[in-house]
Amino acid sequence: MSTDGKTRRTGLPSNGAKPGGPATDAFQRPLRDLRISVTDRCNFRCTYCMPKEVFGRDYEFLARDEILSFEEIARLARIFVALGVEKVRLTGGEPTVRRDLPKLIEMLAGIEGLKDLTLTTNGSRLKQMARPLRDAGLKRVTVSLDSLDDAVFRRMNDADFPVSRVLQGIEAARAAGFAPIKINTVVKRGVNDHTIAGVARHFRGTGYIVRFIEFMDVGNSNGWRLDDVVPAAEIVAMISREFPLEPAAPQYRGEVARRWRYKDGAGEIGVIASVSQPFCGDCTRARLSADGRLYTCLFGVVGHDLRKLLRDGRTDAQIEAFLRRVWSVRKDRYSELRSSRTPGLPRVEMSYIGG
Ligand code: GTP
Ligand code: 5AD
Ligand code: SF4
Ligand code: SF4
Repeated sequence: MSTDGKTRRTGLPSNGAKPGGPATDAFQRPLRDLRISVTDRCNFRCTYCMPKEVFGRDYEFLARDEILSFEEIARLARIFVALGVEKVRLTGGEPTVRRDLPKLIEMLAGIEGLKDLTLTTNGSRLKQMARPLRDAGLKRVTVSLDSLDDAVFRRMNDADFPVSRVLQGIEAARAAGFAPIKINTVVKRGVNDHTIAGVARHFRGTGYIVRFIEFMDVGNSNGWRLDDVVPAAEIVAMISREFPLEPAAPQYRGEVARRWRYKDGAGEIGVIASVSQPFCGDCTRARLSADGRLYTCLFGVVGHDLRKLLRDGRTDAQIEAFLRRVWSVRKDRYSELRSSRTPGLPRVEMSYIGG
């Protein structure tokens, strides 16, 4: 170690974390969650995520050989678990468009020390895939569903996909034994905010947990404006007017969603207030893009190229040491620093890095 607090080999400052043991960042936040994007492709074109004007016919998605193989993903996941990761979430793009996904689930489910293995999907393929995913060892699923009003839903997914098929997918997931199933609803002012009480009503008393998400300024293509955001407090007030709610305690430290319980005992909802009430202080999430880049924040600009390390023949120990160094200097807290100027800054798209 040199006297200026930087390690000689990397030039990166050290936070004094011991080798071996769990990794912690510059703010002492542990590395607990790994979100793995298995593809940058999606069969939807949600206007807030992959608008057609940007993700049109000419858009160049990652090529086959650029994307990590299942073996490469599983190897990295194993190394992350050694560093303290307990939960892996598969995302995309839309993860179920990746061929043979259950095979990957099976490989990840076998990793010792991994406590939670879950998937975020748009639900379009769950009707056929819920059972194979469950059989492969997937523990949980979260389904994105922005409205139950068919016209609003089709307008938002911009792929003319009917809401009834997503509902069938959710039902298939329930029948396959997934529980509790979470539903993610992104709320955009003037687009679907008039239909969110309907979503709450539909899932109340069923055991499904709906989480309403503030529209975020991820990526550079969704034309985000603060005026489009419906703050969580307003979402809670809207639903509470019809079905009174009371706050519930978090289930674990760093939980992204704030929980609210129906006073009449019909279950709970969550609100994810990344804009109005940022939660960077407890952020324990790392993200791996489909082509093997590591991002330590959803709003990252540059990723660390892990694919190169894998394909250059580095050992597990070398990769683990690299990850530990990257995490040890992490200072990300984008949502807490967000200002009127930040939305214009360059950053990766959510469909590339995963939600
Ligand atoms: P559980 O494992 O069920 O508790 O899920 P979770 O709370 O991790 O939620 P999920 O992975 O479903 O994330 C829900 C949404 O919250 C994502 O799609 C994002 O929109 C948002 N989100 C999740 N993690 C972050 C984060 O680190 N930063 C920000 N700004 N938003 C996040
Ligand atoms: N703001 C908030 N949530 C978003 N998602 C995608 N783009 C955004 C955005 N701009 C959500 C999706 C899905 C998850 C992967 O991320 O609806 O639930
Ligand atoms: Fe696809 Fe999900 Fe993005 Fe919609 S939000 S375009 S379903 S990746
Ligand atoms: Fe974590 Fe970055 Fe999200 Fe903050 S903005 S919670 S640091 S991913």
